Amino acid sequence: MTADVAPAYFSDEFAPVPDEVEALDLEVTGRLPDELAGRYLRNGPNPLPGTDPGHNFLGQGMLHGVRLVDGRAKWYRNRWVHTPLMDGVRPDHTDRLSALTCTTSNTSVLHHAGKILSLVENGLPWEVTADLDTVGPVDFGGKLRTAMTAHPKVDPLTGDLYLFGVGLRPPFLTFHHVTAAGDLVRSTEITVPGPTMMHDFAITRNHVVWLDLPVVFDPDLRTRPGMPFRWSDEYGARIGIMPRDGRDADVKWIDVEPGYAFHVANAKETTPGRIVVEGVRYTPSTFDRIWTGLGGEPSRSLAMTGSGANLYRWTLDVATGTVSEGAVDDLDIEFPTINDNRTGLTSDLVYAVTAPLLVDENNKPAIIKYDTANDTRDQWLLDPSWLPGEAEFVPAAGATREDDGWLLSITTHKSADAAALVVLAADNVSAGPVATVHLPRRVPLGFHGNWIQD
Ligand SMILES: [Fe+2]
Repeated sequence: MTADVAPAYFSDEFAPVPDEVEALDLEVTGRLPDELAGRYLRNGPNPLPGTDPGHNFLGQGMLHGVRLVDGRAKWYRNRWVHTPLMDGVRPDHTDRLSALTCTTSNTSVLHHAGKILSLVENGLPWEVTADLDTVGPVDFGGKLRTAMTAHPKVDPLTGDLYLFGVGLRPPFLTFHHVTAAGDLVRSTEITVPGPTMMHDFAITRNHVVWLDLPVVFDPDLRTRPGMPFRWSDEYGARIGIMPRDGRDADVKWIDVEPGYAFHVANAKETTPGRIVVEGVRYTPSTFDRIWTGLGGEPSRSLAMTGSGANLYRWTLDVATGTVSEGAVDDLDIEFPTINDNRTGLTSDLVYAVTAPLLVDENNKPAIIKYDTANDTRDQWLLDPSWLPGEAEFVPAAGATREDDGWLLSITTHKSADAAALVVLAADNVSAGPVATVHLPRRVPLGFHGNWIQD
């Protein structure tokens, strides 16, 4: 599909850039911490010039990279993730490998077992070099036979990688365990009522947490451009708790209030038998609103129950199969992150940014830090003509406290040709950036990034 005028979901701060560029020795305001020696890589949709894939989530993946070392910003470069889709090859859904490789690879970046992987939830990871050139798809020696989520979890204690794959045809959900060395050692199918847009999950010290939420595959949408999912009032909503070495029969499903969460912040076992899950949860009506804004189809029917995309807490009692749940705060946010050294472990801090499509007078562009032990927040408000991207936590050298470290976020001007990588001290977010790297041109708002320390 070709469009001369960009649709709303690829206008303004979402507008794609037309080409791949490189710039050296970038201007920095403030002082970059010397210990930040590595690369910040961020993925996001960037349709090829003149194309409209029908939904914001379907633009071809583009990686933006900023190289920091010795207190300097050595380079910026951007590269599309060069999958066959980029060359006009369309997926053949009767051929597993074609379907799993003709993808956008536009959602996230993972560094694991010596490889840098570009991720999208409906396909295989694509390996890229540290300079962002595409190497090829990764299927773990033929063992990964499903798609791979863009939100795998690395166990900070072992380095093992836990992930899942979703499918529009059975198996709808498969769990995989990859060792720290990169060997896929176990795959097991999990039964869910149907195919949904399952975007994230969680691990705790002993368990896996499944989010089976009512944004469902609608076959009627399959033949149209765009995403074949929409809100369902009928599907219900449940969270599943499974021992990490368990399988389908071991999952304990607990009904929760219908809502949608793209992203979990963290999950933890606070007391025996109790699991706390924190994430960003959309009410049905707010989900429908942002989904149609992104190019998605509205729900066929919608129970209009409140609004918000808020930090939310589910406290699950596994023995009784009950939940207590509710919003922690009233800001509309997205892209929750934590200190990844606390994944699945006890953590009290969550970072987030203002939900891009929900900015208004009461919800101004901000990078936000939540103390979830006390349910308080701290924030840095941006100049209102700028929007923040996901804030990635990078631990300081010799860190002891949970917030000993830095937050890295690419910020984008809403209309001008300007973008910056900002660095904030995570223990003093409201003070604003300690350093701002001025990027050579705008970077569209995108999805997830990762810091790869040298
Ligand atoms: Fe995501």
